[in-house]
Amino acid sequence: MKYALISMLALSGATQAAAKTIYAASYAGPIFELSLTRAANNNSFSLSEVSRTLDCGSNPSWLALEKATGTLFCANEAYTLPNTGSLSSFSTNKAEDSSSLNLLDNVTTDYGPVQAIFFAPNRLGLAHYAGGAVSVWDTTDPGRLVELQSFHYFMDAPGPNATLQDKPYPHGIVADPTGRFVVVLDRGADVLRTYAVGRDGRLLELGAHFTAPGNGPRHGVFAKGPSENSKTFFYVLGELTNSLFGFEVLYNVSDGDGESGSGMGGISFRQFYNDSTYQTGFGSGSGTTLPAEIAVAEGGRHLLLSTRADGRSAYLNNTSDTIVSYGVDLDTGTLSLIKLTASGGAWPRTFAVSGDGTMVAVADQYSVPGRLVVFKRDPETGVVDDGVALAVWTTDLALPDGQSISCVLWDE
Ligand SMILES: *[C@@H]1O[C@H](CO)[C@@H](O)[C@H](O)[C@H]1NC(C)=O
Ligand SMILES: *[C@@H]1O[C@H](CO)[C@@H](O)[C@H](O)[C@H]1NC(C)=O
Ligand SMILES: *[C@@H]1O[C@H](CO)[C@@H](O)[C@H](O)[C@H]1NC(C)=O
Ligand SMILES: *[C@@H]1O[C@H](CO)[C@@H](O)[C@H](O)[C@H]1NC(C)=O
Ligand SMILES: *[C@@H]1O[C@H](CO)[C@@H](O)[C@H](O)[C@H]1NC(C)=O
Ligand SMILES: *[C@@H]1O[C@H](CO)[C@@H](O)[C@H](O)[C@H]1NC(C)=O
Ligand SMILES: *[C@@H]1O[C@H](CO)[C@@H](O)[C@H](O)[C@H]1NC(C)=O
Repeated sequence: MKYALISMLALSGATQAAAKTIYAASYAGPIFELSLTRAANNNSFSLSEVSRTLDCGSNPSWLALEKATGTLFCANEAYTLPNTGSLSSFSTNKAEDSSSLNLLDNVTTDYGPVQAIFFAPNRLGLAHYAGGAVSVWDTTDPGRLVELQSFHYFMDAPGPNATLQDKPYPHGIVADPTGRFVVVLDRGADVLRTYAVGRDGRLLELGAHFTAPGNGPRHGVFAKGPSENSKTFFYVLGELTNSLFGFEVLYNVSDGDGESGSGMGGISFRQFYNDSTYQTGFGSGSGTTLPAEIAVAEGGRHLLLSTRADGRSAYLNNTSDTIVSYGVDLDTGTLSLIKLTASGGAWPRTFAVSGDGTMVAVADQYSVPGRLVVFKRDPETGVVDDGVALAVWTTDLALPDGQSISCVLWDE
């Protein structure tokens, strides 16, 4: 009942609504500010470009927004260049007198950043895939980004997948719901690396939780019920075995109040679920289908993931990759499959659910031309409506191998 009310309010809001802003990054260089608008005389939406910039550098991979200052951060994976990476900051057009996507700063980083998160105010964590590292940035002055820390990882011997696990490849970085811990997902080393967040916003290394050998953890998401006593769960995509893992998160509070640095306690994981993203037994689709992005919506009641190169879905009579939606039982962490729906193109590297849950924007990285698709979604049932998209936006800008849109983000 509560959700029905929320979604009705959201829909009535949308009829009068002003445009919604979406940012998209392309591996071919640009980042775009797009506007999703609804025609006043009918129900049709359209997605149009407001501005773009090439200032992020050669291969933008990830975007993060700092709401408080209206600053957009862009990670440049720079994988077409040898051994470099960069991080840049841009003003957005929230202030009336400034135009959007003006470069504020641009700094060199470790090689190959692929995910960036704010884990504390003014603290941005970057996972460096090819560089085998994590770095921490102070963004207090978005015009002067300062590197505070970097962690470099090493392995004695290659993992089970010798080609793709010859060294550590940190692909994901995520903050837990308490804001006290950060987890780094290392696709090369098959580990979840854990950190405590110190009072000064620096990370303190805690340990490493090994996951199934060869599974290649890529991205993860936390889910926690509404009450303070609710259990916490962590869901992880195993990129190299096309799998989804569920962990119960266990906290321990050691002596001290967590303020001295010695009494921060710990975080660990108890695996209770594993399956192929095909839901047909562990290992199905392994080696051919590559899961990419994972997210929760409706306060963790629903979970969505994307799979690349499965071609299991159809969009307007053409084959498409897939978005898989699950219900989450927030008491037990149990997942139940809701529906497989089309991503609307090829290789959905990322997607983002709108704040009210009524839309999902999907970045189909290998569609030609580069393609961003916005689908309608029912926040009550968790079903994505892949009949006809609400809006589609394309760009001819692509790398020679066809790679285009790498990331999508709502600014609401
Ligand atoms: C809806 O209205 C807009 C603006 O008048 C128009 O451009 C668009 O073609 C219309 N769409 C449909 C499906 O009628
Ligand atoms: C930011 O740095 C990257 C990497 O050095 C570079 O490729 C890019 O051109 C820089 N952007 C600007 C606007 O100078
Ligand atoms: C998946 O779960 C099954 C059943 O609990 C277990 O036997 C198997 O070892 C698990 N596999 C992995 C890779 O975790
Ligand atoms: C609590 O967490 C810390 C840090 O991860 C760990 O060193 C310690 O062994 C844990 N204590 C217990 C009782 O699990
Ligand atoms: C490594 O993983 C990729 C992607 O899943 C797969 O295609 C390849 O066969 C794997 N290689 C080995 C040696 O397992
Ligand atoms: C899809 O194929 C069906 C059956 O061939 C046809 O009726 C329909 O118009 C097609 N739709 C599109 C969007 O091409
Ligand atoms: C159908 O999908 C394939 C694979 O994504 C793509 O190469 C092709 O251009 C698409 N065809 C149309 C008509 O969109």
